[in-house]
Amino acid sequence: MAYGSRLAATMTRRLGRECVYTPSARLALYLALRRWCRPGARVLMSPVNDDVILFVVLAAGCRPVQAPVSVWDGNIDPAAVPESTWRDVDAVLTTNLYGVPDRVLELRRRCEQLGIPLIEDAAHAIGTHVDGRPIGTFGTAAAFSLSKHVAGMAGGFLAVEDARTRRELELLRDDLLTPRSLRDDLNVTLRPLARSGVRTLHLVRPVWRTMERLGLLERDAFRMDLHARRLTASARSAPSLSAYEPWVRVDLHGFRVRHGALVRGQLTARMAGLDGDLTRRRAGVTLLSGTAWASDALRDRVAHDGPLPLFRVPLLVNGRDALLERMVDHGMVCGYVYDPPLDDYAGAEFVEPSPDPWAARWFASHVLPADPLSARRAIGALTRERAGAARPVRPAPVKDASPPAPLGQ
Ligand SMILES: Cc1ncc(COP(=O)(O)O)c(C=O)c1O
Repeated sequence: MAYGSRLAATMTRRLGRECVYTPSARLALYLALRRWCRPGARVLMSPVNDDVILFVVLAAGCRPVQAPVSVWDGNIDPAAVPESTWRDVDAVLTTNLYGVPDRVLELRRRCEQLGIPLIEDAAHAIGTHVDGRPIGTFGTAAAFSLSKHVAGMAGGFLAVEDARTRRELELLRDDLLTPRSLRDDLNVTLRPLARSGVRTLHLVRPVWRTMERLGLLERDAFRMDLHARRLTASARSAPSLSAYEPWVRVDLHGFRVRHGALVRGQLTARMAGLDGDLTRRRAGVTLLSGTAWASDALRDRVAHDGPLPLFRVPLLVNGRDALLERMVDHGMVCGYVYDPPLDDYAGAEFVEPSPDPWAARWFASHVLPADPLSARRAIGALTRERAGAARPVRPAPVKDASPPAPLGQ
């Protein structure tokens, strides 16, 4: 039996697609990129994304091409992608940021026309549907993350179209897995329990502040250090997961560990609670989307389709950075902030910049990703902090200030 096949079968039943179990969504994305993109391929993606995913794309030997995004949700805006870019990309990678679906019908149409793969990053989007169909079933392949949805410290899937491709990817995966140790497995099994203990005992603030002081957090800012010189050197070995491991493993050091039965058993038990979790998320989304901090776009979507079981609710607030700091004093650590956008973070040596970066910059610097499972607490904290709702206003284009050239030249 293939490694993780029981877990994979559970996901296949949910999704109606063949699934490969992976210890993380990042490994699933790496597999998809290696399978469908040749080295040097240009991959269109949103710059409002986890930096880890940028490094996964680089590790696969691909060139990340940053797309213009919607100012309401940070996902690719297909209509704003220049035709010249469309003609020049070899694959599209979605984000489904915070679980809000990408414009996947339009992206699929484009990809079909161009004959290129559509890879869905559904790490935030288990349970999100478009036109009654689950995200993760529109593209050539889709990656899912269990650490987001069932609060595990491991687990993911790559969903593909047929059993032959699945078997091929299982072999590719097995080559990339590293051996486990009992310590790894205990770490993965016990950490979620410790985390929920901290929350139950209202210790979030002291524990977080202590970790900050002791330098135990892997990032000092929202983005990890780029280490540009080392990154340039690693490019000589791409495609290679090992060469990029220092970047790809951030926040999840066991991302390619072949965990044992203990971890997989715990994930199976947690997956059994997934539907209950999604129901609680919908309830939180209903509450949060009714607040002034939710965008009109989100409110309209909820009114039209009912509440989505979002991973985080993208609230738009003024003074976001200071507010995030103060939220810790209310016992709330809001992660998953992807600021600055990847092109500003990494620069043109490592990514192709977006032709229109304004919306990505605005969204990335104003979004406060609120956990719908703690909706009431988030609303209470934001109310006490008198958080102001932010709305995007695109600045007028700057007119060319240089004096007109004299006639006759
Ligand atoms: C958008 C996105 N995709 C993929 C991943 C990777 O998921 P995992 O931690 O399971 O590798 C993350 C991680 O936070 C993410 O934010």
